[in-house]
Amino acid sequence: TDYPRGFPADFMWGGASAAAQIEGAWNIDGKGLSGAECIVGGGQHNSTQDNVTLAELKAALANPSAQKYPKRHGNDFYHHYREDIRLMAKMGFRAFRFSISWSRIFPHGDDEHPNEAGLQFYDRILDELAKYDIEPVITLFHYDTPVALTMKYNGWASCRIVKAATRYTAVVLKHFGRRVKYWMTFNEINTGTTGFHATGAIDSDLTPNQQLQLRFQALHHQFVASALATKQLHEINPGAKMGCMVGRDQTYPATPNPDDALLAQKEDRLNLFYPDVQIRGEYPEYMNRYFAEHHIKIEMAPGDQELLRENTVDYLSFSYYTSRVSNSRPAKNDKKITVNMARGFNNPYLKGTPWGWLIDPKGLRVTLNEFWDRYRVPLFIVENGLGAADELTEDLQVHDDYRIEYLQNHIRQMKEAVADGVNLLGYLMWAPIDLVSFSTSEMAKRYGLVYVDLDNEGRGTMKRIPKDSFYWYRHVIAANGNEI
Ligand code: BG6
Repeated sequence: TDYPRGFPADFMWGGASAAAQIEGAWNIDGKGLSGAECIVGGGQHNSTQDNVTLAELKAALANPSAQKYPKRHGNDFYHHYREDIRLMAKMGFRAFRFSISWSRIFPHGDDEHPNEAGLQFYDRILDELAKYDIEPVITLFHYDTPVALTMKYNGWASCRIVKAATRYTAVVLKHFGRRVKYWMTFNEINTGTTGFHATGAIDSDLTPNQQLQLRFQALHHQFVASALATKQLHEINPGAKMGCMVGRDQTYPATPNPDDALLAQKEDRLNLFYPDVQIRGEYPEYMNRYFAEHHIKIEMAPGDQELLRENTVDYLSFSYYTSRVSNSRPAKNDKKITVNMARGFNNPYLKGTPWGWLIDPKGLRVTLNEFWDRYRVPLFIVENGLGAADELTEDLQVHDDYRIEYLQNHIRQMKEAVADGVNLLGYLMWAPIDLVSFSTSEMAKRYGLVYVDLDNEGRGTMKRIPKDSFYWYRHVIAANGNEI
């Protein structure tokens, strides 16, 4: 009788970010370098698609420039967190997602002692959030494996990294686990098969098949580290919740041709496989067939399977930016689209962002319903937003009506999904304050509700300026999504 449902009173409205894209202070207070901080900027390199070579990494290690490697300066949240959190509070944020930088806690990934200054920085963030009653939501690994572990183990390709990762999570969860209720392990764990940004492994010299082998093996180590972190958290604080986090690309068949339908299902499973493991606790049969057909062999240590089975996650969080199309018989001139890990064909019913990401608000409703039907665990939207080239007017305003439209259309569809009965914990848009884009490492691709005076060359005052979308989102939250 209570349908259609509205947003619950404690719905977590807010925003999300990641350490390597905001913090800066890459060589301050004992921090070590992460892989993300070794990627050149200005859109020259696409981190989620291009391979990184050992030569490139060595060049980055020898080069102290934050201008060349923009994730070293981020938006300087390290020195602006008070102001930024105050701005979030002004919008009425109820939750803020950020990630902890592994190399800020363990500069080389596996140092003997944790870096106290690193722990204190996150203590200060939590104190600040507590002041305004903003719920922290923390990602343990957001695309920033310490580069020292790439050099030592080839990142997640080696099972030896699991021990180092588990020490890091043990220290972090012991320190913050009682204060923080919502956690997630690996950001978009399903993008690992596209390369270095997620695996922290150099594999540019391998054949495509050897790369797949390495990346799925690296993924297995992440599944194990994730299950161990889930176990650690539940031991420290039984009331705390650990989530898995995937980049969701809703998949459509290009036509009603059963061949397209089958292909769409097959390709969609390459996206669903990850939450299948982390929520259901085992590798699904369809992936075992996929591995056999691709000559991939996953090495498992004794006990891994039990570990995965016994330490499933409490909720499913995901990013949503776009959908994809599976086409079994593409014509020569059918346009291909690549967004992060989503590779598919153009959808003539959708328009793209200036960066070519297809905008599909209804796909968010489809995703929410499908996820809820499939898993029956609480869902959490922890990323959704629009990257655009905003313009600052002379009187210091940003009229980003296109961003308002984007967010509004997605929130409307999310509202419909909640009315359909989906159990949704919250909506964290990407991102409250302009930050360095992950894939293209540029400032020009802005996501914020607040403008940051900083350009692609690293020039600017870092001044924060609320955009029109800032005031719009404040109203959405104040009305608990009822006036959208
Ligand atoms: C997600 C990532 O894939 O998309 C974020 O988790 C990223 O780190 C976001 O910033 C938007 O992508 P981009 O490449 O435009 O910054």
